[in-house]
Amino acid sequence: MMKGVVLAGGLGTRLTPLTLITNKHLLPIYNQPMVFYPIQTLVRAGIREVMVVTSGPHSGHFIQVLKNGKEFGLDHLEYGYQNNPVGGIADALSICEDFADRGSLMVILGDNTTDANIGPAVHRFKEGAMIFLKKVPNLRGLGVPVFDKKNQKKIIMIEEKPKKPKSPYAVTGLYIYDNKVFDYIRRCKPSKRGQLEITEVNNFYIKAGMMRWEELKGFWSDAGTFESLLKASQYWAKKKGIK
Ligand code: G1P
Repeated sequence: MMKGVVLAGGLGTRLTPLTLITNKHLLPIYNQPMVFYPIQTLVRAGIREVMVVTSGPHSGHFIQVLKNGKEFGLDHLEYGYQNNPVGGIADALSICEDFADRGSLMVILGDNTTDANIGPAVHRFKEGAMIFLKKVPNLRGLGVPVFDKKNQKKIIMIEEKPKKPKSPYAVTGLYIYDNKVFDYIRRCKPSKRGQLEITEVNNFYIKAGMMRWEELKGFWSDAGTFESLLKASQYWAKKKGIK
C-alpha cells in the first residue's frame, strides 16, 4: 500500500499571533487540531504508514498530540524535522526519501482539509505525478494551472500565485508522486520568496509529460490565513452537526 506524507512545517506567519502559541497545523479547525484532517484523509484512503514533517519552534508539540499514530488507525507514524522552517514545501518533502523506500507517496499539506475520497486515485496510481484541482472563487495565494488552448484537458504549466489566473482552478495541496520526485526536488532553485516550490516540482513532471490531474469532489480549503481558517472551521462545524 502507498505511504502518506503530511507536510506541517513553516512559521505560519500569516496567522500571527496564533502561531506564537503553537505550530499552525496544531491550531483548531472546529473540534480538532488542523493536522488531524489530512491524516484522516490518508487513513480513509487506506494508507497506514505516514510521515509528518514539521519545523520551527513548536515542532515538539506534535508528539504529544499525534503520539504513535495508533489512535488514527496508523500502523506506523514517523516524524521528520526540516532544519529551515522557511525552506519551502519541496524542501520539506525531500526529507521523506528514505521513508518512501523507492515507492510512491500521497502527499498532503498539513493545512489542507477536504472530505473528498482520494482512495480510488491512490489505488489507480502507477507512475508520474497526480494533482487534484478545485474550482474556487478566490485564487489569490494559490497555484493555478494553465491549460492548452487546443486541448482544455491538458495542463501546460502551473503558475504559483499568479496576479492574473489563466483558469478557474486552484492546485490543491494534495499530490501523488512516484520516486522521481526526489530527483526533481534536487533540480529546484529557490523562488522569489526564497523557497523550494512544489509548483516547480510539478512543472518538471508536466514538462516530462508525466502529470495527470483530476477534480477534487467535495469540500476543499487550506487554512493558512484567518479567512480560510474560519471558512474551514465553519464548514467542518456544520458537517459535524453544529447549527
Ligand atoms: C501552497 C502551494 C500552492 C497551493 C497551496 C494549496 O501554497 O505553493 O501552489 O495552491 O499550497 O494550499 P502556500 O501555502 O505555500 O502559500
